[in-house]
Amino acid sequence: MGNYTIAVLPGDGIGPEVVEQALRVLQVVADRYGHTITTQKALVGLAAIEAEGEAISDATMELCKRSDAILFGAVGGTQHTTGPRSKVSPESALFRLRKELELFANLRPIRTVEALLNTSTIKAEVLRGVDMVVVRELTGGIYFGQPSEIRETEHGTEAIDTLIYSEGEIERIVRMAFELARGRRKHVTSVDKANVLSSSRLWRRVADRVAQEYPDVKLEHLLVDACSMHLIRRPASFDVIVTENMFGDILTDEASMLAGSMGMLPSASLGTRKTAYGTFGFYEPIHGTAPDIAGQEKANPLAAILTLALLLRYSLGLTREAAAIEAAVEAVINAGYRTEDLREEGKAVIGTKEMGRQVVEALARQQG
Ligand code: IPM
Ligand code: MG
Repeated sequence: MGNYTIAVLPGDGIGPEVVEQALRVLQVVADRYGHTITTQKALVGLAAIEAEGEAISDATMELCKRSDAILFGAVGGTQHTTGPRSKVSPESALFRLRKELELFANLRPIRTVEALLNTSTIKAEVLRGVDMVVVRELTGGIYFGQPSEIRETEHGTEAIDTLIYSEGEIERIVRMAFELARGRRKHVTSVDKANVLSSSRLWRRVADRVAQEYPDVKLEHLLVDACSMHLIRRPASFDVIVTENMFGDILTDEASMLAGSMGMLPSASLGTRKTAYGTFGFYEPIHGTAPDIAGQEKANPLAAILTLALLLRYSLGLTREAAAIEAAVEAVINAGYRTEDLREEGKAVIGTKEMGRQVVEALARQQG
């Protein structure tokens, strides 16, 4: 039994509808295991820009800092008139959260479910047994390096972005990957572009040094271009992949397609602060706002529900509860229920709320 506080930021597009289903599951889990979990909602993204004048307000940042974890939906719309660092761009909320809360480690687990192998565009035989986690550095590299600007010179307009990493930033993320690998299949793949970039050569040097402290874990180095190829050629061979911010951004979109649909994939961004029961973190389904299907009962809430499971596991230390949710999701999939994104011959396509209800019922059945 515990007392926990979660900041809930549903955001834009399909964010609110999928988060609503995750909260429904949270309530059931809290009741069943006797936890008091306080949730506090706030606006973020376009919703916050319209109501409060910026993508995330100081008050909302304070709320997040006081919480054990943040459950996030999605932010953004269809128009990109400003850069992501502008206060009136919905994505700026993500950058502010990542930077101010020091959420340096973005974890994206990707596992294929036997019953969904045929929903991917990749052959089932290649996908069978895929079970990896990509650990993406989230607060450094080219996303935050300065200068970053478009500027006028005597030779015309030019633009610059800066890719910079300190040894300390590399070391803490690589260490996180090795720690995770210890609890898994003990295999770390460090991804870089050491044949071209100085930052990657430092990355590789630090990875080799950290690896010496983990003689039980195997370290493999891969160049990012080769990694993008091996991800669809031999995906089941990966256990833990660790990489810098932008490579991680690109590779995780690619890797998400292994699971058939982005509608199934959760993510966790862990910070440096410890909570009473684990590590403070930010939890977000990776699918984004999907404005084309928002409000139509078409969104798949399973990513948000699986995201909640990660939150319970990493920030609240509730591993049994997390496993119960994951098992319930798997049971619903195995029973043949699908949302629009997973449409398959002979399977029942159901809406967002109905999918949430199915998970709640599967949880209830576990009890008996
Ligand atoms: C992600 C997204 C963000 C990123 C965008 C929305 C700025 O693609 O979380 O992967 O590039 O980090
Ligand atoms: Mg991305």
